[in-house]
Amino acid sequence: MNADPRLTDSAFLRAVRGEPVPHTPVWFMRQAGRSLPEYLAVREGVGMLESCMDPALVVEITLQPVRRYGVDAAIFFSDIVLPLKAVDVDLDIVPGVGPVVAHPVRTLADVEAIPDLTPEHVPFITEAVRGLVAELGGTPLIGFAGAPFTVASYLVEGGPSKEHAKTKAMMFGAPDVWDALLRKIAGISAAYLEVQVAAGASAVQLFDSWAGALTPADYRDHVMPHSAHVLERAGALGVPRIHFGVGTSNLLGLMGEAGADVVGVDWRTPLAHAIPLVGDRAVQGNLDPTLVFAPTEVMTARAAEIIEAGRAARGHVFNLGHGVIPSTDPDQLKRLTEFVQSYPV
Ligand code: CP3
Repeated sequence: MNADPRLTDSAFLRAVRGEPVPHTPVWFMRQAGRSLPEYLAVREGVGMLESCMDPALVVEITLQPVRRYGVDAAIFFSDIVLPLKAVDVDLDIVPGVGPVVAHPVRTLADVEAIPDLTPEHVPFITEAVRGLVAELGGTPLIGFAGAPFTVASYLVEGGPSKEHAKTKAMMFGAPDVWDALLRKIAGISAAYLEVQVAAGASAVQLFDSWAGALTPADYRDHVMPHSAHVLERAGALGVPRIHFGVGTSNLLGLMGEAGADVVGVDWRTPLAHAIPLVGDRAVQGNLDPTLVFAPTEVMTARAAEIIEAGRAARGHVFNLGHGVIPSTDPDQLKRLTEFVQSYPV
């Protein structure tokens, strides 16, 4: 693991540990994907889940943004529902829609029917990570998994949801089913991260994209212990953990306490507001993803403000406040990467 000494000393891992950096490290959530013509070319006629199970394709797609932008970290190309697919939950990722689950989870029997994940379910992940680590050399690979609440939302709703009403109805009305479901997903997500780290990933990110739908008390009582379990198991492997959600300005403190080394901040919360809330932890973020559609000097002026604000944190990893929007101009992301990497530290 981590055989390349350049990894330990990379700007990304230094920032995550709160050490001085040669430049502010930068990567982008959803840096691989539909914004890149080379991605669309290799995905032609291949389904999303099928792509995630093809190690050669995963290696190629993960490397594409690293080659094009020279970002400071690669994010493993996969999806938060892939481990569910691997244990045979009947689901698909529908283009333009997202994950769709054939038989939504409603009862304890539904939960118990979902197998636990073992490395034998995902040999293609081990192969893809090993291949990537060999190709990436000194660039760290970030593995990831979905957090229990966000994954539960897809399983209970049966697809994407704005209100997460059925999910929260289970949380409030059937606490035994809820607890069993979140425990099940936490085990699967933790095992999925363990496979990625065992194969050589240098850090992990736990995506709780939809946790912003919760009050702090509901998050603390019904969700946080399960996310904490995943983060604890990842931490036991000695890799740093990033914990990210959208619209979580009221949850940032708890998301740090759940066991994060780095708290991801979406674009709605200024870093100056977020930093005191996360305690002695690094932060990641948080340029509004629509700013890449603005004139370059408007985008870079905002990026500079974010880097300046990030100085108050234990460490700062530059990122967008959520994923790259598919219609983003890759040349603008290239200019943003160069701007961040050349900005004085
Ligand atoms: O570059 C990266 O960030 C790595 C790859 C990655 C994907 N999904 C690839 C993907 C990551 C980290 C994810 C995580 C993910 N998946 C999250 C958490 C991150 C977030 O955005 O908040 C969530 C909520 C999902 C569920 C999901 N999968 C959604 C909402 C969608 C988009 C649906 C659509 O088509 O608009 C997907 C599909 C998906 N996952 C795509 C990609 C590149 C698009 C598939 C395609 O190209 O057809």
